[in-house]
Amino acid sequence: MMATSTFQSVCVIGLGYIGLPTAAFVASKGINVIGVDVNEKFVNRINAGEVPFFEPDFAETLVDVVGRGLLTATTETPAADAYIVAVPTPFNDKHELDPSYIKSAAEGIADKLSGGELVVLESTSPPGTTEKLADYLISLRPDLTLEDGQPNSLYFAHCPERVLPGRIMVELASNDRMIGGLTPHGTEMARELYATFCTGELLLTDAKTAEMAKLTENSFRDVNIAFANELSVICDKLGIDVWELIELANHHPRVNILQPGPGVGGHCIAVDPWFIVAAAPEEAKIIKAARNINDAKPGYVIDKVLAKAYRIKNPTIAALGIAFKPDIDDLRESPSLAIVERLAGELEEGDIRVVEPHVSELPSRLAQSSNVRLQGTLEAINEADIVLVLVDHTKFKSIDRALLEEKIVIDTKGLWR
Ligand SMILES: NC(=O)c1ccc[n+]([C@@H]2O[C@H](COP(=O)([O-])OP(=O)(O)OC[C@H]3O[C@@H](n4cnc5c(N)ncnc54)[C@H](O)[C@@H]3O)[C@@H](O)[C@H]2O)c1
Repeated sequence: MMATSTFQSVCVIGLGYIGLPTAAFVASKGINVIGVDVNEKFVNRINAGEVPFFEPDFAETLVDVVGRGLLTATTETPAADAYIVAVPTPFNDKHELDPSYIKSAAEGIADKLSGGELVVLESTSPPGTTEKLADYLISLRPDLTLEDGQPNSLYFAHCPERVLPGRIMVELASNDRMIGGLTPHGTEMARELYATFCTGELLLTDAKTAEMAKLTENSFRDVNIAFANELSVICDKLGIDVWELIELANHHPRVNILQPGPGVGGHCIAVDPWFIVAAAPEEAKIIKAARNINDAKPGYVIDKVLAKAYRIKNPTIAALGIAFKPDIDDLRESPSLAIVERLAGELEEGDIRVVEPHVSELPSRLAQSSNVRLQGTLEAINEADIVLVLVDHTKFKSIDRALLEEKIVIDTKGLWR
C-alpha cells in the first residue's frame, strides 16, 4: 500500500476512556474503524453497543456507529491504513514508564504492516517514546523504513489527549490538539487523520515536543495543586481557614490559586510529572517536590481523621466520595479511595460507611474489609460520628447542613465553606 491521503480504515488499539470515544468519533465520520482490546468482555459489550464505563451522552454515538457497521471491536489487530495506540502507560516502582503495553500493541501491529501506514501514539508518554515505538516496530519488521516517501515507509506521530473524563463528548472534538510526527510526512498524515473529527486547532510540532508538552501541562497543574495543598497544611497549623485565605488572595488580579484537596489522583496528573522527573532527575526539582507534597496529603488526612476517631468509642466514619474527582465513577489512582483503604486498615474499632453515588459496589479490596460498607448519603451521615468529605460531587452540595450538627466534619474539599 502506498502512502495515501485518505484513510479507508483506522485501527484503534486500547478501547478505554480515550480509545473507545476516539474510535467512535472517527467512525462517525464514515471511516471504517476496528477497535482492538485485550479485554474480551469489553469487546463483546462494545459490539453489543454498550459503553463499558460511565461517560455522559456517549452511548448514543456508540450505538449509532456500531449499528451502522462503522465500528467493530475485536481482540486481534487487523491490517489498516492508520493505527491509533491508546493503551495504558503506567509507571513502574522507579516511577519510570512501564512500556509493556505499548510494546504489546506494537507486536500486534507488526505483521499486519505492508508500508505506507501511519502509527499514532496517543498514550501519554515520556519524551522519546514515539521514536522508541518506531524503532521497535522496525526491529520487528526490518523490511520497512522510517525514511519518508518510500513504498515501504512507515509513518509515526504522537498526538496526546487532553480530554476531561465526563466531558469527553464535547472536548474530544473541540479541544486543540498537538500533533508531532517523527518526520514531516508523519506529521502531515496525522494532521489529516485528526482533521476528520477535530474542530479545534491542530498544532503541528515534532514528536518529542508533543510528548513533553502533554507532560508539562499536567505538571503545571500538579505544581499548582501542591501549592494549594501545602497552604492547607500551613493553615491548619496556624488556625486559618484555607478556603477563605485562597478566596481573598485570588482577588489579586494576577493571582489564581487552585483548591486544595485530599491528594492528587487519576492516571494523568499523579503520573505524568514522574516521566519528566525520570527524564531529567537532577533538573526537575519543583516538579519532584510537588509530586511528593501531593503524595503526602492522603497520609496527612488519615492522621487527622484517626486523631479524632481515637477519642470516640466505636467511631462511625461517613466517607463521602472515593472517585478521584467530582461527578465521575473513575477510581483509578484515587487518593480518596487510598484514604478509605488505609483508614479501614488502621482503625482499631468502629467502622466506615462509604458514600459514592457513582458506583454500585465497592472495589474488591474495600469490599473485603469487614469494617467498611457502601451506604446511602442520609443514612451514612445520620449514623456517623465523623463526616469526612473526600470528593466534592455535585450531589453532596445539597446535603442539609442541619444533618451535620453534632458531627465532627473533616472537609478536605471545602464543600460546605
Ligand atoms: N482517561 C483520561 O482522561 C486520559 C486523558 C489523557 C490521556 N490519557 C492517556 O491515554 C492512555 C489510555 O488511557 P485510558 O484512560 O483510555 O486507559 P484505559 O485503562 O481506560 O484503557 C486502556 C485500554 O487498553 C487495553 N489494553 C491494554 N493493553 C492492550 C493491548 N496490548 N492491546 C489492546 N488493548 C490493550 C485495556 O484493556 C484497556 O481497555 C494512557 O496513556 C493515559 O495516560 C488518558
